[in-house]
Amino acid sequence: MVIYSLPRYQDFEHKIDGKKTHLFILRNRTGMQVAFTDYGARIVSILVPDKAGNLRDVLLGFNSIHDYLQADEQYHGATIGRFANRIAHGSFQLDGEKYTLQQNNGRNSLHGGATGFHTKVWDRRTSFKNKIDFCYISPDGEEGFPGNLKVTVTYELTENNEISIKYLAETDKKTVINLTNHAYFNLDGEGHGDVLDHILHIPADHFLPIDEHQIPIDQPVPVEGTLFDFRSPKRLSTDITKDDEQLRRGNGYDHTLVNNQPFSKIAASAFSPHSGIRLEVLTTEPGIQLYTGNFLSGKDIGKSGRPYPSRSAFCFETQHYPNSPNNPHFPSVVLEPGDRWESETIYRFCIKKEM
Ligand code: GAL
Repeated sequence: MVIYSLPRYQDFEHKIDGKKTHLFILRNRTGMQVAFTDYGARIVSILVPDKAGNLRDVLLGFNSIHDYLQADEQYHGATIGRFANRIAHGSFQLDGEKYTLQQNNGRNSLHGGATGFHTKVWDRRTSFKNKIDFCYISPDGEEGFPGNLKVTVTYELTENNEISIKYLAETDKKTVINLTNHAYFNLDGEGHGDVLDHILHIPADHFLPIDEHQIPIDQPVPVEGTLFDFRSPKRLSTDITKDDEQLRRGNGYDHTLVNNQPFSKIAASAFSPHSGIRLEVLTTEPGIQLYTGNFLSGKDIGKSGRPYPSRSAFCFETQHYPNSPNNPHFPSVVLEPGDRWESETIYRFCIKKEM
């Protein structure tokens, strides 16, 4: 049995591009502890009690900035921007003007480009007992995107075992934006084998099928009769290895499920029968990228000294749809000067006997 603990402050004291990095910790009265770093405005650890009362760190990640910088997988727990997920051919048009982005994923632009928000040292703005604000100003033209974009990400840990993430952004020039957090969860604890026994429940009636470049083909299609139907609780192992064109293209689940729930209702949940820990997601975003860690290579050694192979975690990335700038039918990702981009997601943890 692994005894999970938080990383040490001193292992996050470092300098990147001349800016100092740090570790920050929030705790609540029920014993939950969450660690963050300003490098990538990312979540580092999420310690929650399991059904036996032992703390488990349910988030994949590393013990030091050094390890984050060396990691094979760059996105652990990070804020993703300016544009989460893929933009086909690394280009889009706004008001007739063509913008060209770096193609860092085959012919796509992925997660804001190689020097996306996950690589920036964010400023910590204010701190309250249970809240932390990270702020970053992305200059006009950064990674090919127009407009000076000011972004604030506020994390709050509630007494209800919730991590709330609020995003706020403003621009001085018309632009596109899609922000998310790339938390990799394993509800048995990071480094604790695969997540195939986890039971998922997602009320989405529709999902976005993808082409061979992992770009949504067109409109959402009904999940009815597909392997993407999680409207009744379903173990991840049930369908994930089935012979299916969509699963082949994603190398497993790596698809947007269309969120049909208001912010007050659970948009997705996952439960581990072993730890008894359940994660509930509430969001204002129109989509949830269900990603089953298919591309995790096993090269990264995590916080408790154990490797992170394929399917050793899952992500519920709440976001707008991939490639939206090139698809006029998708909910708009355009941000105009004078408008505010506001979005909120809650990751809530609880203990259950069954799903
Ligand atoms: C996910 C994406 C995957 C993969 C991963 C990063 O958001 O859906 O295809 O790129 O990020 O390794």
